[in-house]
Amino acid sequence: MYAQMVKSTGQGVKPREEMSPQERAFQDRIDADQKIEPKDWMPDAYRKTLIRQIGQHAHSEIVGQLPEGNWITRAPTLERKAILLAKVQDEAGHGLYLYCAAETLGVSRDELTQDLLSGRMKYSSIFNYPTLTWADMGAVGWLVDGAAIMNQVPLQRTSYGPYSRAMIRICKEESFHQRQGYDIMMKMANGSDAQKKMAQDALNRFWYPSLMMFGPSDKESVHSAQSMAWKIKINTNDELRQKFVDQTVPQAELLGLSIPDPDLRWNEERGHYDFSEPDWTEFFDVLRGAGPCNTDRMAARRNAWDDGAWFRDGLMAHAEKKRARAAAAKTAAE
Ligand SMILES: [Fe+2]
Ligand SMILES: [Fe+2]
Repeated sequence: MYAQMVKSTGQGVKPREEMSPQERAFQDRIDADQKIEPKDWMPDAYRKTLIRQIGQHAHSEIVGQLPEGNWITRAPTLERKAILLAKVQDEAGHGLYLYCAAETLGVSRDELTQDLLSGRMKYSSIFNYPTLTWADMGAVGWLVDGAAIMNQVPLQRTSYGPYSRAMIRICKEESFHQRQGYDIMMKMANGSDAQKKMAQDALNRFWYPSLMMFGPSDKESVHSAQSMAWKIKINTNDELRQKFVDQTVPQAELLGLSIPDPDLRWNEERGHYDFSEPDWTEFFDVLRGAGPCNTDRMAARRNAWDDGAWFRDGLMAHAEKKRARAAAAKTAAE
């Protein structure tokens, strides 16, 4: 989902004849489906694009805990609370794997966090929408994690080794997230009239923001070509969006809920659903910071960072003492 925010670092694919021998060898390895590892030579733009993409992905996992964390204390049963807690903890874990993957490219987690807090780096626009009812926990798991899987499954084949390996583990956990969301929707959609209404309302509010998670249309995506040649991006935004719609419509039918799009219909000729584009003006507004929850989300992250300062300082002090003790023991032994 996070490819949506990656800005262009180049102007299209460099023709082979203009590549240096080093660049050519690098591209050959990618074309042969070999992974690039941290100590391998890589073009600066490849490194920069990856740091941006993995960093924004990591931030999205971390900020993504907030809309659901909001409901842990209000889950309707102990079982639902335990499930939601586990799901939100998974997202923290995803953030950690991804920060670690980004660190192998020479950027520290502290630097990435500072870039998030200063607004230089973004996170997925979806997490700037509020979660108003318990049914939203269903819609988020079903649609938001569903869209995340759609984006992340192809990234298991991405050319950068640490990123691709992180994705393999993350995708396994994401399918549990998606199922728990769908399970909540199933319960609500088959519940009382009021519950069914809540489920429909959640779908109405999360449908278009979920479609936005794949990023703007390919026509406007300037960075796609180079990222695809480098196998940082595997599918285009429009391909993934179509796949998501095709997969989700029958799931909504099974729930007895309707997708809030009057123009949605099966296109026999294309073998796909036709559907309405989301409002891209809204997408860019939210990305710029004008979404309903941008301010809250950033304030929560800033507080978490400030509140954790004593703990980070404590860890550093402990590490320093340990190092000094080891040095003293070494001197004594000599
Ligand atoms: Fe995740
Ligand atoms: Fe997830």
